[in-house]
Amino acid sequence: MDSHLLQTDVSLKPFNTFGVDVRARCFARIRSIEQLSMVLVDPRVRDLPRVVMGGGSNLLFTGDLDGLVLKIDIDGLRELEPLPHAWRVQVGAGENWHATVQRLLDMGRPGVENLALIPGQCGAAPIQNIGAYGLELAERFDSLRAWDVERGQVVSMSLTDCAFGYRDSAFKGALADQRIILDVTLSLPRDWQPVTGYADLAHELAARGVATPTAHDVFEAVIAIRRRKLPDPATLGNAGSFFKNPIVSRDKRGELIARFPSLVNYPLAGGRFKLAAGWLIDAAGLKGATRGRAGVYEKQALVLVNRGGATGGEILALAREIQTKVQEKFGVLLEPEPVIV
Ligand code: EPU
Repeated sequence: MDSHLLQTDVSLKPFNTFGVDVRARCFARIRSIEQLSMVLVDPRVRDLPRVVMGGGSNLLFTGDLDGLVLKIDIDGLRELEPLPHAWRVQVGAGENWHATVQRLLDMGRPGVENLALIPGQCGAAPIQNIGAYGLELAERFDSLRAWDVERGQVVSMSLTDCAFGYRDSAFKGALADQRIILDVTLSLPRDWQPVTGYADLAHELAARGVATPTAHDVFEAVIAIRRRKLPDPATLGNAGSFFKNPIVSRDKRGELIARFPSLVNYPLAGGRFKLAAGWLIDAAGLKGATRGRAGVYEKQALVLVNRGGATGGEILALAREIQTKVQEKFGVLLEPEPVIV
């Protein structure tokens, strides 16, 4: 095997948006399916514990990794045979997500502009079923190809195979560690309509005087909102929302509204309610808090930040404190969103 492929004792600081400095015993940057298949059977590393990563924007490393880190950098973008209702574009797992959104717009293939500026790579998008401003990846998903680790071959997976949920998929559950995503095929509606139901987005478009938005208008509006609310990982380490928005029963929501009339909540199908975790953390008095070198972002309490040199342990300790305080005040358990390694 190409001896340059496998590196040892590598700092992962440049490869995670929290900017946490941990080291990996072995590290390989994978640019093709051939490289992946070779590295997985290499006797030097095949029995080591493995972590597969993309842009490192939804990960928290809590210590050095005595194993193999595979950074998937498979590139490429090509249009496949369209369906009667949708264009289909296949994108390599290593392509940057936001650059792909921009490229699709430039190609006249809108449909994912609500997901502009989400950090990370295309291959990670299905893992947590990325979503923002009224749209989730699942709504624009055709299929993907993944490496089946046990069988040692490429397999194709449909929408149902992926079992997408809110910030969830089979890759976080039943298939965790069993599939390595190689490329993703998006399904982009031929009869494109803007998705503008999300309150923040509707306000932003109105403020810009846009009544009939083009895909480009939506793209620009989403970018503006995100720049205002979310820290840029290049200047302040973070992994976006640190917790999922919790889902509660009608009774629980009723009980909370009686005590906290300004509680931000949204009805879901099936009579359940989603609560804004950012509001809960804010109302628990933790917005802007600092513990050592870790903190809660001043403009969006759902985002934890590395104020400079924080360890994963410090960030995790702050996350635990938030969970405890929110649990005590509201009786609601916040579940972390990033993968904690
Ligand atoms: N809020 C507060 N205080 C805060 C933060 C939020 O009161 O500190 C309130 C806001 O005023 C608003 C509500 O909570 O009424 C919701 O806030 P926001 O619109 O910012 O959205 P979110 O629910 O906090 C979710 C996603 C984001 C996504 C936005 C927009 C999750 C876990 N997070 O955040 O996704 O960008 O909606 O769609 O679902 C991510 O996953 O990393 C991420 C950034």
